[in-house]
Amino acid sequence: MAEKEYLVLLGLVSWQDAQTISGGLTEGFRVVGIANSAAELQERAEQIEPDVVLFSPRLPGMTGELIHQLLHREGGKPIAAIGIFPPGGRDEADRYYGFDMGGHLYEPVDASTLTELARLIPEVVFKAKQLRQSRDYIPLPRDLRAEMQASGWRKRGIAFWGIGGGVGKSSLALNVAAALGILGQRPTLLLDLDMSRGALASYQGVRDRSKNIFPLVSLLTAEYNRQGRAACTPDLLRRYTERLGGKLDLLPGVAEPQIAGLPEFVEDAARTQAIIESILDVALKQWDFVVIDLGPDVNHPVHFAALQWAEDVFTIIRPNISDVDSTAKVIPALRRAFGQSYGKFHLVVNQWSEEAGISLKDVISIITDMPLEMTIPWDPKATYLLNRQAFLVLQDEIGPAADAIVTLAAGLFPPLKPIWERRGGHIGGQGKVKSRRVKRRKERKGWFGKVLRGEA
Ligand SMILES: Nc1ncnc2c1ncn2[C@@H]1O[C@H](COP(=O)(O)OP(=O)(O)OP(=O)(O)O)[C@@H](O)[C@H]1O
Ligand SMILES: [Mg+2]
Repeated sequence: MAEKEYLVLLGLVSWQDAQTISGGLTEGFRVVGIANSAAELQERAEQIEPDVVLFSPRLPGMTGELIHQLLHREGGKPIAAIGIFPPGGRDEADRYYGFDMGGHLYEPVDASTLTELARLIPEVVFKAKQLRQSRDYIPLPRDLRAEMQASGWRKRGIAFWGIGGGVGKSSLALNVAAALGILGQRPTLLLDLDMSRGALASYQGVRDRSKNIFPLVSLLTAEYNRQGRAACTPDLLRRYTERLGGKLDLLPGVAEPQIAGLPEFVEDAARTQAIIESILDVALKQWDFVVIDLGPDVNHPVHFAALQWAEDVFTIIRPNISDVDSTAKVIPALRRAFGQSYGKFHLVVNQWSEEAGISLKDVISIITDMPLEMTIPWDPKATYLLNRQAFLVLQDEIGPAADAIVTLAAGLFPPLKPIWERRGGHIGGQGKVKSRRVKRRKERKGWFGKVLRGEA
């Protein structure tokens, strides 16, 4: 018996052809369903997850887009497609190749078709898997993919931080990481290094709580204490990560809040810093994007090490008088601590709503020294989706908050723009604030600014 059995779904118009294939395919292939329309083909494919669909371009409602969607499914394995075209249908076949059809044959369907299929099916299934696994895979149709592979982007480590509790550090880290790792299919590692509590495991329903930052740091601490140095390896790091979907992995945070105060983390700041850096350096070698969720306390050695290491730090605030005030007050200390690299701090106003009664002008008149990168609107679904362990950026219904989050992510990985627009989203919409324009207006004083300066 063949080692692997290939599951085949048919979407053909001729009943006779379907029968010839169902009855005639050799051992190692199994026809698992027959669809009579493109909609039915899509539905069955999602339910059954065959390895390949055999389709006729004359199937009612058939489009190249459907072939593309089956191959680039976010939620599961790629499903390859083979078209069976009328004689002379080369031009039409070429159009489908633009949407990543794996191969094609011509009618009539007869014994030689069956022989050809037995050769072609394993080949296109293998190609589909290879495409998905390749380092430069981008889930776009062939032509756009080539264009986008050439667009400039590079590996990056970024952190989400903020002085306030509940501002949205974890939600934004989670959803930016999902945009990169699941929508963009870039290998992405999300690290929960928030030492006040590890929220991401709860937000994603990670059951295996033995996978988290603490045992990893403990092992490296023992090594450091023996040898005066510690080097995290890719295998060691992977042992503590969990796949969340697509190419997104999570290193969960401390399983209980009090663990963050244990000697492994706090007794020797230089040691903790060396260990965290070694973990992050290995992460960026193995993954294209490293996204870190942090807690507010800059004095905790883990937070400080991650802030030092990150290339961009998104400082999250809400339109909240205390968030704005305390962020403005911490900036001089950040400048002293980070010196020339202070420029990596960008301001993001999350849970933005006019109804909060604070204008962006007010915000930037107080926080004069950190460019406003983005506003992310308040979204009534945000909490519900976290509680359902779902991603805001993966919902069919796209709201302005998801648009803004993906815009932020597309700044790191530009191919997200066409990927998001094909899903019906908008990049650079209302969420985006040009930091240059904002900077020039920093002298303007609103009512809120006067309050904070004691002038009103
Ligand atoms: N744009 C948004 N619109 C509405 N609610 C939001 C938005 N962003 C985050 N929230 C909600 O705010 C709450 C806090 O979010 P989150 O846990 O991400 O914040 P945090 O800064 O990581 O908090 P902590 O300080 O506890 O780590 C959650 O219930 C989340 O759903
Ligand atoms: Mg958090």
